[in-house]
Amino acid sequence: MGRHWGQEDIRWDDFDPSKVDPDMVMAVKTASLVEANSEDYVTYLLSVFREETWLHDALRRWGAEERLHGEALAAWAHRVDPGFDFTERLARFREGYRLPLEATESVRGSRAGELLARCVVECGTSSYYSAIRDATEEPVLKQIAHLIAGDEFRHFKLFYDTLKKFDPQDSLGLFAKLKVTLSRVNETEDDELSFAFHCANNDPSIPYDREKSMLAYSKRAYRNYRYGHLARAISMMLKAVGLAPHGVIAQVTQRGAWWLWEKRARKLERIAA
Ligand SMILES: [Fe+2]
Ligand SMILES: [Fe+2]
Repeated sequence: MGRHWGQEDIRWDDFDPSKVDPDMVMAVKTASLVEANSEDYVTYLLSVFREETWLHDALRRWGAEERLHGEALAAWAHRVDPGFDFTERLARFREGYRLPLEATESVRGSRAGELLARCVVECGTSSYYSAIRDATEEPVLKQIAHLIAGDEFRHFKLFYDTLKKFDPQDSLGLFAKLKVTLSRVNETEDDELSFAFHCANNDPSIPYDREKSMLAYSKRAYRNYRYGHLARAISMMLKAVGLAPHGVIAQVTQRGAWWLWEKRARKLERIAA
């Protein structure tokens, strides 16, 4: 494996403040907290997979990459807004949002289920950073989002390959797999993202309003997506579940999901207006 990218690879000379969109800055600040916090997930995964010592190095590397994503996004946000105090914001987020770090069994019910849930998360992040890369006109953010998206596709592959290795008999079954997938997709509307948005963008004196933060965050996330970003995420999810990623089911799911997506995006913009 070659050398992984680092902060030193970011071409800051290309930075163009005239291409910065304030809504995108809010989304990037939010993402920086979520990414940096997911490093804590390593503790949980090492505990859930304590017997699978062959997986530990890969899990630690994964955690370090998520941390780097957070730091690179924070560096960009800081460039745009020098008042953005990443350390303080991250501390505030961690204070109020706790990952299940003490758990010794997967919160998904099985280790195969855990790996599948990780695949779903990486489908989401790979499509999200691809969408940001294509939506922003600011060259440095475009570069950072491109680098991160590449990592997220590799993370999906890591968890997908591990799932295959871990459960070659495919013991979960389609129904259980769909259940894990859908419940993880639904959690996207849970506290993590809305609370991160709140911590990243609001002054500590402002009380947390879950609904308001969720709407404010979602609006800024949904609008970056094009059909191809969502369609690819769905193909990857179907693959993880064991269904054909490019078959008829895939096409129907992709069209249906895009219809719902656009409807939701329009509603979010309407509420905001
Ligand atoms: Fe990431
Ligand atoms: Fe990732």
